[in-house]
Amino acid sequence: MTRLDDPAALARLDPHDARRVLAEFPAQCRRACTLQSDPPLRAARPRVVVVAGMGGSAAGGDLLAVYVAETVDVPIIVHRGYGLPALAGPHAVVIASSYSGDTAEVLSAFDVAVARNVPVVAVTAGGALAERATAARRPRVALPAGLMPRMALGYLFFPALPLLAGCGVEVAPADEIDEALAALDALARDLVPERPAADNDAKRLALSIGDRLPAIYGGPATGLIAYRWKTDIEENAKTFALAGALPEMNHNEIEAWRSTGAKDMHVVLLRDRGEAPEIARRFRVLHDVVGPSAGGVSEAWGRGQGRLSRLLTLTYLGQWTSYYLAILRERDPWSVPLLDEMKRRMRTPAAP
Ligand code: PA5
Repeated sequence: MTRLDDPAALARLDPHDARRVLAEFPAQCRRACTLQSDPPLRAARPRVVVVAGMGGSAAGGDLLAVYVAETVDVPIIVHRGYGLPALAGPHAVVIASSYSGDTAEVLSAFDVAVARNVPVVAVTAGGALAERATAARRPRVALPAGLMPRMALGYLFFPALPLLAGCGVEVAPADEIDEALAALDALARDLVPERPAADNDAKRLALSIGDRLPAIYGGPATGLIAYRWKTDIEENAKTFALAGALPEMNHNEIEAWRSTGAKDMHVVLLRDRGEAPEIARRFRVLHDVVGPSAGGVSEAWGRGQGRLSRLLTLTYLGQWTSYYLAILRERDPWSVPLLDEMKRRMRTPAAP
């Protein structure tokens, strides 16, 4: 029996019960759909939406950007860093997204938005961002606390939909949301620890990757999801992972597969039923070209008809895969000590 099917091993290696949080992700998404900003965001239809966030709190912005890319005529920019880009002016809407509310870069983005008088809303469970939103009389979406930010993706994504609809940017039809939530419910049942490896796609993927370095490649719709898989693997399993997107990686990174280290790597191709025929062909050719050099190749697909369902379920599969990789590598999937140490040191005043 694999360790992934052993409840005692999971309890020992996952003392914070991240598996319960992941299993409850569909319920989190449902609850997230009910969250509103207080007071409501009052803004004209923006020319651009800027989501300011880092790490797990930027991932909701990525999901939003890729989800709307083919249907919404307002660009959604995800800003990872201090301050705000020049395009965040009076005709923009800024979503300052920080689960903890204490991320320095997002606080700085919020301050710049207030200073520039750009419509801004804070999406946070608390911290300094909540305090600053109250002090500056700016709207806030209050998120339920107690999760690791990367495991709060539902809270960091869904509240943006009514926020944008409120300023004239309709993003997600209700039936697409319903379909995505139902697909997540079904997928949760298929990926939870109680479902044995023989019948559990996330466990099987983690076992296929094993000790190899995962290289996750997506297409135009799933490239950002590949990046999310990479960061989930890095934070949960504490191991390096690569991410890239077709067609761009066909023009550079593909050459690296000639290196001797390729046998120690495992390719995961993130496919999408909506991908164009030329992208499907590129995936097939990539498989043929790098497959013989790689340690192994797997494919993963999202579920459902609508784009939201496909993207969300593929992201959820990545969350569980990274979780099971953490268990295989005997890492606590919850805690992130180096990340915390970095934040702690950056909070102490710099030496003169
Ligand atoms: O998932 C994580 O813990 C990190 O990637 C955080 O999201 C990141 O450090 C930013 O913190 P926060 O999401 O609280 O703004």
